[in-house]
Amino acid sequence: MSEDPTLREGTRAHYRDAAQYDRTYARRREDIDFYARLAEERGGCVLELGVGSGRVAVAMAERGVEVVGVDLMPSMLERAQLRLDKAPPAVRDRVTLLRGDLRKLRLDRRFSLVVAPFNVFMHLYTRKDIERALSTVKAHLRPRGRLAFDVLMPSPHDLARDPNHVYKLGSYTRAKDGRRYRYRENFRYDAARQVQLVTMAWVADGHDGAPESSLLAHRQFFPAELEALLHYNGLRVERHEGGFEGETLDDESESQVVVAKARARGRGKPTRDAR
Ligand SMILES: C[S@@+](CC[C@H](N)C(=O)[O-])C[C@H]1O[C@@H](n2cnc3c(N)ncnc32)[C@H](O)[C@@H]1O
Repeated sequence: MSEDPTLREGTRAHYRDAAQYDRTYARRREDIDFYARLAEERGGCVLELGVGSGRVAVAMAERGVEVVGVDLMPSMLERAQLRLDKAPPAVRDRVTLLRGDLRKLRLDRRFSLVVAPFNVFMHLYTRKDIERALSTVKAHLRPRGRLAFDVLMPSPHDLARDPNHVYKLGSYTRAKDGRRYRYRENFRYDAARQVQLVTMAWVADGHDGAPESSLLAHRQFFPAELEALLHYNGLRVERHEGGFEGETLDDESESQVVVAKARARGRGKPTRDAR
């Protein structure tokens, strides 16, 4: 995404092993229901930015919705294609997968709903990245279309974790080779850029060599900042909630779930300062 090598790696590494990604998040379902329900309610076609392995896209297509899914990572798109290959032909025909960067995408087509499920926008690290992404959203929304996405709620406690501490998180079998690995995580928060860097490491059982590791870089969006970014980029927030079932956004929230629409042009009086 960004030219910064750490952030570039932190956007890609976690998604190279797409089978492992699916296995890790196999139990994550409430977001699928949220996006699929919204797609059904709104009718029309959906554009999914950061479609990944097709977790959400295929569920929407199963409910009769046509979906165009775009992703940066070939590994994730291949996995999404595998998922589609196993789906009934009618479902398969409703999904189009494209490789692309959501900050630059222009399809010359508009959608009733644009979605970016499961922290996709947390890979937008700079104001420019965010502006480009929201400009893509506006270029693809129909007049009464909606944008829906979720990002994590920053946790002051989690961001303050000791960067030298390694969290030992048990062991499990990895999809790629069926071997058992001890799994560790380490967190470093770059406060100036508001980016949480998560290093994940796997040590194969009975193996003394260097651990295999992977980096995930997540831009943190504080709630008022997120609303301001959407507002100043021409979007009106309709819902800003603390979960996928309409929970109030508060100290307990793990995610921020947002539904927004493009602001009508030329509406609203200028403020006193702007006159
Ligand atoms: C956490 S995954 C979410 C995937 C899917 N939406 C889901 O709910 O499972 C984030 C996805 O965003 C993609 N991504 C990150 N930056 C992107 C960009 N600039 N353009 C397109 N896709 C991007 C990643 O490759 C990854 O597949």
